Amino acid sequence: MCSLNKELPIVIAHRGAAGEAPENTLAAFQLALEQGCDAFELDVHLSKDGQIVVIHDFSVDRTTSGQGAVNQLTVEEMKQFDAGAWFNPTYAGERIPTLEEVIAMTPAHIQINVEIKGGIGQGMEEKLVELLRRMNRTASIIVSSFHFDCLRTLNQLEPSLRVGLLYDLNLKDYALLPKAAGVDAYSLHPLFMRLEAEAVRAAVAQGVAVFPWTVNGEEGMAAMLEMGVSGIITDFPGKLRKLMEQ
Ligand code: G3P
Ligand code: CA
Repeated sequence: MCSLNKELPIVIAHRGAAGEAPENTLAAFQLALEQGCDAFELDVHLSKDGQIVVIHDFSVDRTTSGQGAVNQLTVEEMKQFDAGAWFNPTYAGERIPTLEEVIAMTPAHIQINVEIKGGIGQGMEEKLVELLRRMNRTASIIVSSFHFDCLRTLNQLEPSLRVGLLYDLNLKDYALLPKAAGVDAYSLHPLFMRLEAEAVRAAVAQGVAVFPWTVNGEEGMAAMLEMGVSGIITDFPGKLRKLMEQ
C-alpha cells in the first residue's frame, strides 16, 4: 500500500482517526484526512441484503444505538441507528457507512486498507471485487484479513488487487509467510508489540511491505519508524504525522 507520490512510511488511519472520532464513520475518515493521513484502514461485513458495510464488530451493539448481528440487518435498518453519539454527543447523527460511501468520499490519492471481517466465503470476495471495478478503485486498495482463505480467493478473482496478511502472533520470519500461506501478498500487517527489526528488514528486502498495527503511543511510533516499516496503522494519524515531521 505504498503511497503513490510520498516517501515511506505512510500514515494509515485505523478505522479513521478512531482515537478522536467514532470509529469507521465518515466523520472519522474526514478527520483523518484533515490530519494528513495517506490511507484509511477500515473493517467490512456483509449486511442481510448483501451490501458491504463498514463496521468492526459482528454486531452493531457496541458502536451504535441499535442491537443485533450485522448480517441479520439490512442497510436500511442499520441506517436508523446512531453510530456517533456513543463516542461523543457531538458526533450524534453519524451512521454506519457502506464501503461504497467511504470510497466515494475518499480522494483519489488516498489509499484504503479494507480489512475483511465478515461475509468470508458468502459472497464478500466477489462483491468487493465487483464494487472496486465499478468504482475504478482497484489500484488504490489493499485488502487484508486474518483469514488467508479469503486472500487466496481474491488472488484468483482479481490478481492485480493487493492483499495483505494480518498477524497477531510473533512469527519470526515474516518474509517467508506469504509463500507459506499460499498467498501472493503485497504486505504483512503484524501486531506491532511483537515485531522485530530483523523481520522488517527481511520482508522489505524482498519487496514485501510491512504495516504494523495499532501504534498509538509516541514511543511505539518512534520504534516502528526506526525499524524502517513501510507504514504505520494508528488511531492517531495526526500525532504520527507530527512526529514524522519533527
Ligand atoms: O488491520 C489491523 C487491525 O485493524 C486489526 O485488528 O481488531 O483493530 O480490526 P482490529
Ligand atoms: Ca481492522
